[in-house]
Formats: sequence, C-alpha cells, structure tokens
Amino acid sequence: MKNIVILISGRGSNMQAIVDADIAGAKIAAVIANRADAGGLVWAAERGIDTAVLDHKGFAGREAFDAALAELIDGYRPDLVVLAGFMRILTAGFVNHYANRLINIHPSLLPSFTGLHTHERAINEGVKFAGCTVHFVTAELDHGPIIAQAVVPVLDDDTPDTLAARVLKEEHRLYPQAVADFAADRLVLEAGRVKRRG
Ligand code: GRF
Repeated sequence: MKNIVILISGRGSNMQAIVDADIAGAKIAAVIANRADAGGLVWAAERGIDTAVLDHKGFAGREAFDAALAELIDGYRPDLVVLAGFMRILTAGFVNHYANRLINIHPSLLPSFTGLHTHERAINEGVKFAGCTVHFVTAELDHGPIIAQAVVPVLDDDTPDTLAARVLKEEHRLYPQAVADFAADRLVLEAGRVKRRG
C-alpha cells in the first residue's frame, strides 16, 4: 500500500477526483493546505481523511515554511506527495527531499505556458490545442519529467473560463490515472523521460 499526501490551496477538485477514484494500492494519508479557507479541506475531513493546515504567513521565509511542511508531511510516511493546486513555489531543498515522489498537475501542455494565467495566454497566442500535464517536480518551476498529458481543442469563441473548464475535466481524468500508475509501479524514469510500463 502506497501512502499518499495531497497538498492543496483551494477548492481541491483534483484532490477530490483522486480520492473518488479509490485507487488500488493507494491510501490517501492526509490532505494538507497552506490556507485555512481551502475549500477542499472540509470535503476531505467529511470523508474521514486526516487534514492539516500550515499557514505560510506564520513563517519568516520559504526555507522555514518548507522545512515545517516537510516535517508535517513526513509524519505520514509518504510514498508520494501530490500537488493539487498548491499555490506555493517550493524551495530546492524541499523538492530534492521528495525527488521522484513529488508530482504536480499544470493546466497547459508543458513545456508551453509555464507559470500562471495559462488559458488566457494560450488564447492570446492563438494555439489550437491546449491541455494539461502531470509531471515530476524538480527545482525548476513547471519543468520536470512529464508523466502524462491530455489535449483539448481551443475553440474560436473560447474565453479563459470556458477553456479552463474543458481542461479541468481532462485534469480530473488524467491525475487519478497518473497516481494509479505511480501506485502500481508502472512509471519508469529513464534519462529524464518517464516511460509507462505495461
Ligand atoms: C488546476 O487547474 C491545476 O491544474 C492547477 O491549479 C488548479 C487547481 O484546481 N495546478 P483544484 O484546486 O484542483 O480544483
């Protein structure tokens, strides 16, 4: 059984998709937020999942916050840490501590559109396809070996909101699948590329 800790900052719809997928061989050990008002916390607590809040505003800087966060996470002996809308830039120390067991979902087809406002930027660039990417987290923001991607069309009358909704639907399919692949040891990392076994 793989222990999984999920980090959120907001509504946590990806976290909910992962919990609802009831992944074989995976136990959601805890959901941790850096904001007490993260909507997903109540949802997780109602389902009997351990929840915790570690407010970054109570710390002098990133290093101190990340050290406390790692201590909290490690109490759950995680095999995998899942970032699901966790809106914090993580220090290299934190990322390296969880090397090859820290994953993120980003709402673009990486390496295009790293950072924020991905849907607005995709529309402004006139790209015809958008999507989402699950990747291992490395110290460089929104880089790191790509585990899985899903593609959606960008329609002529799309707004950032309509495109976000289309992408989010794919996120909810892709992320649980990627976690299931990790839990079943199907992901093989070779020379910076992730291959899926089986
Ligand atoms: C998602 O779009 C995800 O790709 C991005 O942040 C958003 C989080 O949404 N990293 P939710 O909190 O999972 O609903």
